[in-house]
Amino acid sequence: MSGQNRFFEYAGDFKKLLDEISRNTGLNLVGYRDSYLKRRIGVRIKANRLKSYDEYIEFLRKNPSEYDKLLDRLTVNVTEFFRNPSTFEAFRSKVLPELSSKREIRIWSAGCASGEEPYSIAITVSEFFGRELERRFIRIYATDIDGLSLRRAIKGEYEAKKVANVDSDMLNKYFIKTGEKYMVKPEIKRMVIFEKQDILKRRWINFFDVVFCRNVAIYFSRDSLEILYGNLYDSLRKGGYLITGKVESLAGDIKSHFEVVDNREHIYRALK
Ligand SMILES: C[S@@+](CC[C@H](N)C(=O)[O-])C[C@H]1O[C@@H](n2cnc3c(N)ncnc32)[C@H](O)[C@@H]1O
Repeated sequence: MSGQNRFFEYAGDFKKLLDEISRNTGLNLVGYRDSYLKRRIGVRIKANRLKSYDEYIEFLRKNPSEYDKLLDRLTVNVTEFFRNPSTFEAFRSKVLPELSSKREIRIWSAGCASGEEPYSIAITVSEFFGRELERRFIRIYATDIDGLSLRRAIKGEYEAKKVANVDSDMLNKYFIKTGEKYMVKPEIKRMVIFEKQDILKRRWINFFDVVFCRNVAIYFSRDSLEILYGNLYDSLRKGGYLITGKVESLAGDIKSHFEVVDNREHIYRALK
């Protein structure tokens, strides 16, 4: 085992455990690196004071509610409002002007976690269009595989520390303060449609003008990356934009299907 992949290896049939989890959650675990899965599943095995992968299979069968906790562990949900602000600035100055003549605009936040990304997109779009917004049909589809995160996203209520990097004017304009929490205003919520979905399953074809898929691909194996970017490409309309995370970049064959719009902000345009 390499020094980078340090994790405790439990006894028992790991592959059987993965099959069991995939069957019961619909999560395609084949896509994730083994070292990543073993580390994260190991945390739940330890938390339940079990000793092997086989014992954990039995435990899951007897305690299906453990799946929620396991999924929460398996998926990394770290996110924030306006994550990488310069990317949102490039979205506003380079992507939205190109779409401004369209009446109908569809944007996808793929791997939306607890909603900060799709709501930041909705706020940026609202600011850009201003009063013109009423004359347009703009929808942000926000999907994630993790039900717990999606429930938080749909609620749209955030603690003060979560909205700390939202500009105070935006906070007043787009959030309602209730006690110690901040609730996203209904006009922003209305723009976002949440859905539970595995991005590795093909779903939309020639549908979106913009796809944000940021900080999701980092956990995927090479084979899954090919499926992921193939799906994202297919989901885009002709000339649609793909925005990846700062630490992710297009590699391999898929690269030739996109032109670079902004190298620093990882914004690409589908050549179709
Ligand atoms: C680190 S968060 C990124 C959130 C947001 N895009 C951002 O950049 O702040 C990664 C999200 O991807 C989701 N995810 C991981 N694998 C997925 C899959 N196969 N299908 C859909 N969502 C997935 C996780 O549940 C998690 O909420």
